[in-house]
Order: sequence, then structure tokens, then C-alpha cells
Amino acid sequence: MSWGALYSSAFERVRGRIGKTGPVLLAYNTNIDAVKYLDSTDLERRVEDAGKENVLRYSEELPERITSIEHLLGGILWSVRRGKAAELFVESCTVRFYMKRWGWDELRMGGQVGIMANLLGGVYGVPVIAHVPQLSRLQAGLFKEGPIYVPKVENGKLELVHPKEFEADEENCIHYIYEFPRGFKVFDFEAPRENRFIGAADDYNPNVYIRPEFREHFEEIAGRARLAIISGLQTLTARNYRGPLEEMKRHLEILGENNVPVHLEFAFTADETVRKALVDVLGLFHSVGLNEVELASIMEVLGEKKLAEELLASDPVDPVAVAEAMLRLAEKTGVRRIHFHTYGYYLALTDYKGEHVRDALLFAALAAAAKAKLGDVPSINEVVDAMDVPVNGKASEVEKKLVEEYGMSNGMAEVDNYQLVFVPTKIVERPKSTVGIGDTISSSAFVGEFALR
Ligand code: AMP
Ligand code: GLC
Repeated sequence: MSWGALYSSAFERVRGRIGKTGPVLLAYNTNIDAVKYLDSTDLERRVEDAGKENVLRYSEELPERITSIEHLLGGILWSVRRGKAAELFVESCTVRFYMKRWGWDELRMGGQVGIMANLLGGVYGVPVIAHVPQLSRLQAGLFKEGPIYVPKVENGKLELVHPKEFEADEENCIHYIYEFPRGFKVFDFEAPRENRFIGAADDYNPNVYIRPEFREHFEEIAGRARLAIISGLQTLTARNYRGPLEEMKRHLEILGENNVPVHLEFAFTADETVRKALVDVLGLFHSVGLNEVELASIMEVLGEKKLAEELLASDPVDPVAVAEAMLRLAEKTGVRRIHFHTYGYYLALTDYKGEHVRDALLFAALAAAAKAKLGDVPSINEVVDAMDVPVNGKASEVEKKLVEEYGMSNGMAEVDNYQLVFVPTKIVERPKSTVGIGDTISSSAFVGEFALR
């Protein structure tokens, strides 16, 4: 069958059933994304004003956190030069105020939980229960209409209400997203691909603050869920990870007792201690989602240096190296499903079989293309429209390698008692923005797969 035919049949099947899945529990990170599309003249002027030499230092090596304007501007240049994403915590009030005055072009829902809640609940009609660390009026207003709920406790009794009905006036957790297109020029640097730099002016999500409603009523909340997705642990450090990780393990145990399959959205975790700790608990999850940089970073802590290097050596990423790394990870941790995404293709390794795994990935690729094109997925119609986006040209060489190595057919193969699934993805040539595409992919594929069971 052609990929075109596989795409359209997968879409129809998932669309027909996805609204009947859930409720999906989403924890822990939600914030407001203030998206600024960078302008090079403006950026150069700001760098000159702050002192070019000092700023350039940080474009060589990222600071650990942002405590000065030089850190902020240097961090942005670090991302532009490499075409790579980065996110740093903004500690200084002066810098927070500087970013606020610099302004933004759009305010959007942010954080994995927020983005997934709007997509699953607001677009697919899947009921979701979301953890929102701080519900300010601005934050509440960014939630779409639909079956999206947050726990509210009154007189010791738990209720689930839409975030707009929560009616609290808590703090704003704002992440400033500096987006740049491929070819963006500033001084002598030119961005090899589109990406973003994020400055998080937020004291809650970076510490994985967990609300009392969730700590005190988790049994009851988990009792209402059929699936769960956990994210937001990537910002933890060796200094603050113990408390949140203990609480997460408690949540995982309770979800396990309720037979709720849980997906971990990995995201780049800079701190090695935290990364190791996450790999150690991966077996408690049903599923994990990650990209090539994240998979390589896990191979590093597993002592697989050579594989880690291979994963970052070529573009498109060598699928045989990816499959090897996924096998290593599955065997070492016992996680049942690994969903890998990169520019141009996805792979999934599962310890169970069936075409539904592949079809859910195809559905996810359509959602990703819609998100790349528009920066948001307003409705299911835009996911349908993504059918017209062409499949990535380089994906056929990737498929060829998989056919040679594993005898793959129609994107499916068996490797060492696991099922390996491949799909070529649709790539939007000039994406509106890059933030949140990974979350769109992982949540659509995970929930889509259960919809097809
Ligand atoms: P992450 O690396 O987690 O931010 O997720 C980014 C993912 O989005 C990549 O792995 C690609 O699969 C996908 N992606 C990035 N750019 C595009 C694009 N222009 N069109 C479609 N998908 C994209
Ligand atoms: C991280 C960022 C958040 C952004 C999200 C997108 O969680 O902190 O601002 O919306 O990634 O994936």
C-alpha cells in the first residue's frame, strides 16, 4: 500500500474513535508562552547595547541559569548559531522585566500539559484532567472550550471544573519563547534550521510544584483516569529533584494499581543526576516519547557512548542506530513502548504487536504538520488539511535501510520479539513556529493508539 493510502485510512479510523477514549490525566507543567518572532536588526542593537563581547561569551557556552541580560541575549545567540532549542530558568527580576518590555507577538498555551490538554480536550474531544500549577486569569483564558477539567476542592470535596470556572487569581507563569526561522541571520551567524530559545520567568514549573489538590486527592483523581501522560520533569536539577520525583513515584504506584497506562514525555533533561533517576523509574511507565537528542542523552547515562554519537552523527538520523538504542532502552528498563520522533520520520518499538501502533503514528504526523503550519491546531479540519502536505523526501532512504536491515514491510517489522514500526512524516517547509510540535506528536500517537485498540 502507498503511504498516501495508509495515511488516509489511519486518519479516518482514529478520527472515528478518538473521542471515545479517556479521561486522560495530564501532569505536571502548564504555563503561558509569550512568543516573540526575532528581528535581527532589533536583536543586534540589543546585543550592542548590552556589550557584544560579553554576550558572545554565552553564545559559546550556555550559562546554567539567567541572571543577567548578557545571559539572555547570549542564550538566544547560542540557539540561533546551532539551530538548536534551549530553555533556561530566568532568576533575575531585572531580566524578567526586560523581557516583558521587549514584548511578544502572541500569547499561547504553553507547557506540555497545557498544549496536550487543548489538543486532546479542545480539538479531539477527549476528556482530560490537567494539573495547572498556577491558574491566573490569563492562564485560564488560554484553555479551549471542551471537556478539559482541573480538580477543585471545596469543603474537602473534590470536583472537576473547566479551568475558566476555577476562578482563582493565581500567579502568571510566563515563558518567553524567542523563535527564529531557518536562515535567520544575526552578525556572522546564520541559523541552520528553525528553532527557539526559551527564558522561563516562572518559579513553579521549573521546580515541578505539585498542587495540594493533587497531593491530597490523588487516589480519587487517578480513579477517574483511563490513561495518563506525565511531563515537565526536564527542568529539575540535582538540588531540587528528590521531592517531586518521590511524589511522582507515589502517583505512578496509584495509577499502576488502577491499571492506567502512563506515558512519559521525556524532553531534554540537562542535569545528569535527574536524567539517570528518570531512566531508573522508566519501567514504571508504559510508554516514553523522545527525539534524537533526548535518546542520545539517555544512551550517554547508560554508558552507550558510541550509540549516542551515532544518533547525532547524520541527518536524517540513522534509523538502525535509533532502533539499536531503543532496543537497549527497552531491555534495560522494561518500558513497553518507545516512540521516537525526528525531523522526517517516527519509529515506535513495542513489546506488543498490531497495525494500530503504526496508524496512531500516522495520525500524529498529520497533527504535527497542522501544528507546524499554524502554530496551533484550531480544529480537526486543519488536521485533515495536513493530508496535502508532502511526505518528507529523505524518508525513503530511511525506509530503504529499514527494509534491508529488518525486512520491514508497510512500515512494520519484527525485531528480537519486539515490533518496530516506521512512518515517514509530513514536513511543513516554512513552519509558523516550532514550540509544542513534539507534545502534539506524542499525545496524538499515545491516545490514538489506545483509541484503536
Ligand atoms: P521536539 O524535538 O520534541 O521539539 O519535537 C520536534 C518534532 O517536531 C521533530 O522531531 C519533528 O518530528 C517535528 N517537526 C519539526 N519541524 C517540523 C515541520 N516543519 N513540519 C512537521 N514536523 C516538524
Ligand atoms: C516546555 C516549555 C514551554 C513550552 C513547552 C513546549 O515545557 O517550558 O514553555 O510550551 O516546552 O513543548
